[in-house]
Amino acid sequence: MSIPASRKRRLLIGASFVLLALLLSACAANAPQDTLKSAGESARRSEDLWNLVFPIAVVIFVIVEFLLVFAVIRFRTKPGRVASQFHGNTKLEIVLTVIPALILAAISVPTIKTIFDLAEPPTGDVLNVTVVAHQFWWEYRYPDLGIVTANELHIPVDVPVRIRLEGQPTDLVDSTPEVIHSFWIPKLGGKQDIVPGRLNLITLSASETGTFLGQCTEYCGLGHAEMKLLVHVHEQADFDAWVEELKVTPPTTDPLVTEGEKLFIQGQFAGGPACSSCHVADATRDAPNAGPNLGGFATRETFAGAVLDNTEENLVRWLRDPAAVKQGAKMPNLGLTTEQITALVAYLQSLE
Ligand code: CUA
Repeated sequence: MSIPASRKRRLLIGASFVLLALLLSACAANAPQDTLKSAGESARRSEDLWNLVFPIAVVIFVIVEFLLVFAVIRFRTKPGRVASQFHGNTKLEIVLTVIPALILAAISVPTIKTIFDLAEPPTGDVLNVTVVAHQFWWEYRYPDLGIVTANELHIPVDVPVRIRLEGQPTDLVDSTPEVIHSFWIPKLGGKQDIVPGRLNLITLSASETGTFLGQCTEYCGLGHAEMKLLVHVHEQADFDAWVEELKVTPPTTDPLVTEGEKLFIQGQFAGGPACSSCHVADATRDAPNAGPNLGGFATRETFAGAVLDNTEENLVRWLRDPAAVKQGAKMPNLGLTTEQITALVAYLQSLE
């Protein structure tokens, strides 16, 4: 059965619209994770390489596709037409091997140079940060500054940041083997995997202040899609102030906050032990069981892998049943009462 010409045309037009819609859906005027709008030296080097290689690839693609479509149409079957019969064409085959080889050789020069340049450790003023990936959140350790924080990375502008990506062999919360995650803040630098038991290094740099988004880019389980990254880039003085502020825990007189602190440290809940068996609310200390460090929690914009806005409403929902808010969350449902949640939220919101 053959399809009538009018139906064929309609199908073709329909298919073109679907293709166009797919193509346009990839466009965004202001995409926060646009790798082609770099905001620092490291990302700019990758962008420069892309800008060099991509147009060459486009030209080759157009030539090859044109010849392909031309041959399909020009030499299509017709009654009485017989294809010319021959075997091999040595001259043509040599040309078609040598040309791509030369193009690849030419492209490899800037590519390899960029790879080696980006792998070179930065010199001069450098900020060292160790990134530990957990299911499903990020831990940032500043070994030279003596502080630890989670999910929102703070860095100074115009200072290269040497990132040590430390792959933990096991998850400290439930002792299951840790999995591969991938660290990527498109506007500030390249992408690098975090592999259990291995150490990878990468350099980020920001040439402008502001907030930048990133995301775990290696499927790591149920919470993978909700393992975001938020980077705050400050002027050096503001960054120093942030560090100093994190080091002091403000005293409180509010009875609700004091009640929340008591629950946090020694509460025994229906669904498990006190918060302090996994967390610590002090950026200068290590959490006992690798839960996110909550020092300065109230100053964060987000929590839970940088996916939830740090609001009272979200905190209440989260404390009531973490896994119901974020799939795969390893924080257990502690079976908290409404009064306990209210006190704990007040305590968390006092951690400036
Ligand atoms: Cu961590 Cu995907």
